Amino acid sequence: MTKSNSDLSESTPKSPSDHRPRPSRPIDTGIRTKIAGTGSYLPEKLLTNVDLEKMVETNDQWIRERTGIEQRHLAADHQVTSDLALVASQRALEMAGMTAQDLDAILFCTVSGDQIMPASACVLQTKLGAKHVMAFDLSAACSGFVYGVSVADSLIRTRMFKTVLVVGAEVLHRFVNYKDRETCILFGDGAGAAVLTAADVNEDSRIYSAHLRADGSLGDLFVLPAGGSAMPFTHQVLDDGLGYVRMKGREIFKNAVRTMSDVCQEALDINGMSIDQIDWLIPHQANLRIIEAVGKHFGIPAEKVVINVQRTGNTSAATVPIAFDEAVRDGRIRRGQHVLLTAFGAGLTSGSVLLKF
Ligand code: ACO
Repeated sequence: MTKSNSDLSESTPKSPSDHRPRPSRPIDTGIRTKIAGTGSYLPEKLLTNVDLEKMVETNDQWIRERTGIEQRHLAADHQVTSDLALVASQRALEMAGMTAQDLDAILFCTVSGDQIMPASACVLQTKLGAKHVMAFDLSAACSGFVYGVSVADSLIRTRMFKTVLVVGAEVLHRFVNYKDRETCILFGDGAGAAVLTAADVNEDSRIYSAHLRADGSLGDLFVLPAGGSAMPFTHQVLDDGLGYVRMKGREIFKNAVRTMSDVCQEALDINGMSIDQIDWLIPHQANLRIIEAVGKHFGIPAEKVVINVQRTGNTSAATVPIAFDEAVRDGRIRRGQHVLLTAFGAGLTSGSVLLKF
């Protein structure tokens, strides 16, 4: 249905200071999106805190106390980001009872794709053997999967496509300076995927709403300076370590807790739900203390929060789908349960998705 002028004026910012997106429920098109299958993949190679003790001035106790992380998985030398994504995608398709031929679109959420061009989504398309799809990369850093689910849901509900693969995959360790103790302890590699499809009318599973935000004014808190048009690679640039991520950890920490709490509250308010009705909270796995602070903010019992950061470290866009898939496969998350996904990342970006699995 077309919006009337008076409808539109209600959602138009009234003054320059009134820029905050108006929270709203998605327009009801009569189509509902469900998550038909999930999959994930963590490479075999491990980097433990004890390994890191030999590389930089740090120690296992500090890392555990400040981050909760005990180990991270690293891609083998021959593996690229699309290889990790391929396994996660195949597993998600298998759970959905589908093949690559059922896909209409591939959204590859990553900030560490195989190369700048072509899109890793197109590489993955070829590896999967998916013939007739639209494919593109989505760059929202650690919020990538949450952004991707929202975009896929919109594409499905507006009848543009029926079935969309959303993958979050990273090989971030190749962009980390193993001489910088503040960043190198945090990141790991991995991939998670979900197949989203239009639900049948009699099905209960659905995505209720997504709430996405960005604040580019805080972009300098987490950056990968070189490799783009602003700073092409030169010998000097590489010698200066500008091909590695740089971070202001303490500021990110504070923003992460605030923004994830805000977007989760928005999801609850818009859907008229309370935190008691949420069966599972799946937050971005960056730091156990950030996760605990968000859980505490909502008073959600610790056993309802899916946490795997101890084993995986921060895999950026892959953390939420990996945690989701692990909890589905080990029987914690069951059909009919309410799941709240939330993430924050470089940009700064943040978002939440409320769904019934
Ligand atoms: N080992 C030992 N000491 C360390 C280490 C380390 N690996 N790293 C820093 N320190 C030192 C610091 O130098 C500092 O020393 P000082 O007091 O002498 O100056 C001290 O430990 C405390 O440093 P803080 O920065 O206050 O430590 P904090 O408790 O904030 O923990 C951390 C740091 C773990 C980085 C935390 O701030 C954090 O997790 N922030 C969020 C980071 C994040 O999520 N980044 C990615 C976001 S975007 C995305 O997910 C893609």
